Amino acid sequence: MRAMPKLENPVPVEVIGAGYYLPERILTNADLERMVETSDDWIVERTGIHERRIADETMSTSDMAVLAARKALEHAQLAAEDVDMIICATVTPDMMFPSTACLVQRGIEARNAFAFDISAACTGFIYALATAYTYLASGYVGNALIIGAEKLSAITDYKDRNTCVLFGDGAGAVVLKRTGRAGHGIRDFILESDGRNAHWLQVPAGGSRMPASTKSIGERLHYISMEGREVFKFAVTAMKRTTVRIAERNNLKAEEITWLIPHQANKRIIDAAAQALGLDQSHIHYNIHKYGNMSAASTAVGLAEVVLHYNLKEGDYLLLVAFGAGMTWGSLLIRW
Ligand code: ACO
Repeated sequence: MRAMPKLENPVPVEVIGAGYYLPERILTNADLERMVETSDDWIVERTGIHERRIADETMSTSDMAVLAARKALEHAQLAAEDVDMIICATVTPDMMFPSTACLVQRGIEARNAFAFDISAACTGFIYALATAYTYLASGYVGNALIIGAEKLSAITDYKDRNTCVLFGDGAGAVVLKRTGRAGHGIRDFILESDGRNAHWLQVPAGGSRMPASTKSIGERLHYISMEGREVFKFAVTAMKRTTVRIAERNNLKAEEITWLIPHQANKRIIDAAAQALGLDQSHIHYNIHKYGNMSAASTAVGLAEVVLHYNLKEGDYLLLVAFGAGMTWGSLLIRW
């Protein structure tokens, strides 16, 4: 499949603040052993997940996004009223409409921003960063608040062992700004989709195709349905290809990548992508063991964790890679 060409002379669009929020409640593999026929050994060996965070019933996706956004703005030392644009990547919006981004705008009182959501499943945060880059590079906005937030527990069937062991809740946010530091910030991205296999990963009911009904609820069609093996095979190929392609077209050797920040769906998928690049495991940021798969929030929280906790140095390269429902996949390269 053809990928769009590399960004030519990228303008400096940099991360100037980051924050994340994770619910306090922990759902362990031992808890799941009491809910479905599974085992800690199976889950750890097949996925690398030990536990995940679950939001309580009073907390929605936008509530978590607001908490992450406030931290990112504080870190960026940017007042909410000075935010120009808010993009929220999510597949678990509070409602069909309004957008979760508008609810975040209300929550943080960013009254001068415009706001919208992006739906690209687990690749959503990369799509959102790339979209924001184009707004910032064109000069249409001066800064942007980009969020990946999910309450996947709201669409997870805790009677289905094929899916319920995988997912968790959380939110991550970054503030992007166009700066004057040539050679820094977002350097390149690759966004790809293939709708032919959209049925591999979906929530069948609740949209216009199959509105909510007693039948749809009875048949448990408002939960994630997944063809796990197909998704796994696709994910390994897509993650390997996008990781290698973005590194090669930016003339980067594996040892020059400081942190790979991958989508956290399955540790085996992450390791396959890193191996294809020849990247040592010590340069991979993992959070799958403690948070599971948080869809768009996985890379958002991952990037925020790396920015806040890893003492980045000027010139460090951060490489985000993800795949998700759609099918969608992509990568984005940042030079610190
Ligand atoms: N505990 C115990 N056994 C299980 C469990 C479980 N939780 N889940 C499935 N099994 C069983 C299956 O029933 C199957 O049994 P069978 O052989 O008798 O049929 C057996 O384990 C092996 O199943 P596989 O599907 O072959 O297991 P696999 O090694 O592929 O791992 C997994 C399954 C972890 C789901 C893997 O396929 C995977 O990671 N797929 C990708 C998932 C993914 O990335 N999804 C993205 C969703 S993100 C989004 O967009 C919201």
